[in-house]
Amino acid sequence: MLNFSFQNTTKILFGEGQIQAISQAIPKDAKVLVTYGGGSIKTNGVYDQITAALSEHTWFEFSGIEPNPSYETLMKALDPIREHGIDFLLAVGGGSVVDGTKFIAAAAVFEGDDPWDFVAKGQPITKALPLACVLTLPATGSESNIGAVVTRDGNKLPFSSPLVRPLFAVLDPAVTLSLSDRQISNGVVDAFIHTMEQYLTYSVNGKVQDRFAEGLLLTLIEEGPKALAVETKNDLAIRGNIMWAATMALNGLIGSGVPQDWSTHMIAHELTGAYGIDHARTLSIVLPAVMKVRKEAKREKLLQYAERIWGLTDGDEESRIQRAIELTEQFFTAMQVPTRLSHVDLGEAAIDGLIAKLTQHGMVKLGEQKAITPEISREILIAAL
Ligand code: NZQ
Ligand code: ZN
Repeated sequence: MLNFSFQNTTKILFGEGQIQAISQAIPKDAKVLVTYGGGSIKTNGVYDQITAALSEHTWFEFSGIEPNPSYETLMKALDPIREHGIDFLLAVGGGSVVDGTKFIAAAAVFEGDDPWDFVAKGQPITKALPLACVLTLPATGSESNIGAVVTRDGNKLPFSSPLVRPLFAVLDPAVTLSLSDRQISNGVVDAFIHTMEQYLTYSVNGKVQDRFAEGLLLTLIEEGPKALAVETKNDLAIRGNIMWAATMALNGLIGSGVPQDWSTHMIAHELTGAYGIDHARTLSIVLPAVMKVRKEAKREKLLQYAERIWGLTDGDEESRIQRAIELTEQFFTAMQVPTRLSHVDLGEAAIDGLIAKLTQHGMVKLGEQKAITPEISREILIAAL
């Protein structure tokens, strides 16, 4: 395997009722800004649990962080931070709220001209307010990683810094019971594809990483559909397995010491940036096409995936790979997400604009071998029609 250094400092507080633990986990003298989204936490009891847990803290709130959080919204949080001398951020929500709060944490103490520079121009982040989170939607892994994705004027771009890694993350599977089927699907599919981005590359004999990744894929294939089925959807054990799988899929562990792809994400971000399609629903369209177009470069891992995930051992290599791709698409269909651009009413006419945006964003050498040029991204989008 490749050389690596691995450290994940986020303390995980897992299980039912763990929200109350934030009363101890946040310093008593902190001035806390609780950040959240459009209000789901007000109707599912999470806000009340936060209020009870912070009864001895000084805290304020900032709401309205939208899915695919925007620069404009996030910058509005800087006023209350300055006004109240906030020195601790608590994000309560899904990946968008956690990502948005990571941006706020760095923007609040940014010393350059415009905090967008650390996103668009890659200016280093040298300081950030401490932050932690209560996760309400298992999907992105943002609760214990260093990455975030923010959008400005249709440009959806990632940034990362160890300084924005949450200090702790509360993972209470019970808070996920209020999720709509659409958000459950999105979460399972996003976590599945995070695993694939770090697994389906070329082999470096990273046996531990491969088998951890395969364990996550099998768990998501097994538990995902159950979280949608009427008889099992409220089963907390199922929700807990999905929640922990999603965190483990992108907390740095399975990606250490192995090549990583991320072309599906970078191409898919353009679909969200241009058309506002949910993150996971863009990934489920792009990944099967990446598997088809990059079949030769990924051959060895595709065969391993076919055998270990789908039990495919009969037939020639070509047919096993073909079948593994079909079964992946069938899993996405069972999770009720689209697998073609036509499923979201997009056709060939959209492709030129998407390629232009990818190029503008410098996404011109994607994938584990940096071999995916805009021309190959075009082939991928054509394969996704
Ligand atoms: O805003 P509220 O009212 O809270 O409603 C949200 C939102 O409408 C709702 N929701 C969340 N928890 C709920 C709930 N509704 C009922 N009950 C609950 N318990 O779900 C909706 C979607 O939330 P969002 O946070 O947008 O979803 P998700 O967690 O999928 O996050 C997606 C964002 O994360 C980024 C994506 O690009 C996208 O912007 N990603 C971040 C990554 C990272 N930081 O490492 C990696 C990912 O690949 C991804 O790119
Ligand atoms: Zn993702």
